[in-house]
Amino acid sequence: MSKQVAAGRISSLPTTIFSTMSRLAAEHHAVNLGQGFPDFDGPDWIMEEAFGAMKAGKNQYAPMNGVRAFRRAIAGYQKKYYDLDWDPQTEITVTAGATEALFSTMLALIDEGDEVVMFEPFYDSHQANTILAGGIPRYVTLKKPDFRFDPDELERLVSERTRMLILNNPHNPTGKVYSREELDFIAGLARRFDFLVLSDEVYEFLTYADAVHVPIATLPGMRERTITVSSMGKTFGMTGWKLGFAVASPPLTAAIQKVHQFVTFAVNTPGQHAMAHAIGRLESYLPELRALYQRKRDFLLEGLRETIFRPHVPAGSYFVMVDIPPDIGEDDVACAMRLVRDPGVAVIPPSAFYGASDEGCTMLRLCFAKKEETLKEGVEKLRCISI
Ligand SMILES: Cc1ncc(COP(=O)(O)O)c(C=O)c1O
Repeated sequence: MSKQVAAGRISSLPTTIFSTMSRLAAEHHAVNLGQGFPDFDGPDWIMEEAFGAMKAGKNQYAPMNGVRAFRRAIAGYQKKYYDLDWDPQTEITVTAGATEALFSTMLALIDEGDEVVMFEPFYDSHQANTILAGGIPRYVTLKKPDFRFDPDELERLVSERTRMLILNNPHNPTGKVYSREELDFIAGLARRFDFLVLSDEVYEFLTYADAVHVPIATLPGMRERTITVSSMGKTFGMTGWKLGFAVASPPLTAAIQKVHQFVTFAVNTPGQHAMAHAIGRLESYLPELRALYQRKRDFLLEGLRETIFRPHVPAGSYFVMVDIPPDIGEDDVACAMRLVRDPGVAVIPPSAFYGASDEGCTMLRLCFAKKEETLKEGVEKLRCISI
């Protein structure tokens, strides 16, 4: 072929670091503390619900915006936990994971040249979708050691050109849970400069100790300018089901659905029926979920004490960022490449999640959504590394 194969708009998109590290993990039979998914199964009772739905003939296309029972269940839990009222008919879109919700939202709402502010380290698809939609990413760094942002820096960055700010709360990869005060500040700017907030809340139920997740849509004047995205894959530990959603006011939802109808049109039917049921059991399931992940977090943090890697204690999500000791003389990519080969532990080098600061080069991201034996094996291997 003499013509260029790929479209120009994808020329600056990298291959996601997750695929690269998972491939290397498999190649080197490494313990995979890299990609963010559980290496244990989700609840049996959800699978049985899905099977029941299949046997009951729920096997054809779902409605474009999602199965009614699932949309009602989503509205129900948003009301129960956050006191947010969403109309299941006009304000909820069921998507193929949070990933599709993010993609459809950004494509629907960003115009060529619009500025999109995101905190870094960012989730990689936030940046990629901004570029695909023709937007211009602008970065505010969450700085070590507590991953707070500088309010003056954020204020200087936003302007009339800002179309959207992307928030990820609780935060991947730092485990930060934004305080009410930080959210108030962001909301104040959103109202003043009239921009949208895309709030990626896939780890909404994974918070530890006394950390409290506050959806930004609950703040004054934010309901109508926020698109909230979440994922059943994270809440119920079944990432392979790829079931997520976006909730937003009717005009924003109508725009998102214009894209969604041509991306996936509808999402798998039996899974939606099963998740509608699963949401109904959230109240009894959540304490179990939190206790399970808190144990895993504490187990990994304890184990890391005996290694050269100092962790930043996460308040939410299922990730821990650790510092690479400067004496080692390696940046994150060199260190991650070495660890995956020998002693055989896959981790994620986070510099790929920064667009402005080079602070990412000094850390590694570890995922603790793993069986205790996986975490134990990973820590034992990391203990072998000395400076
Ligand atoms: C912050 C964040 N957003 C979105 C996603 C993607 O969610 P899903 O698997 O539902 O597409 C992830 C998955 O790791 C994530 O960490």
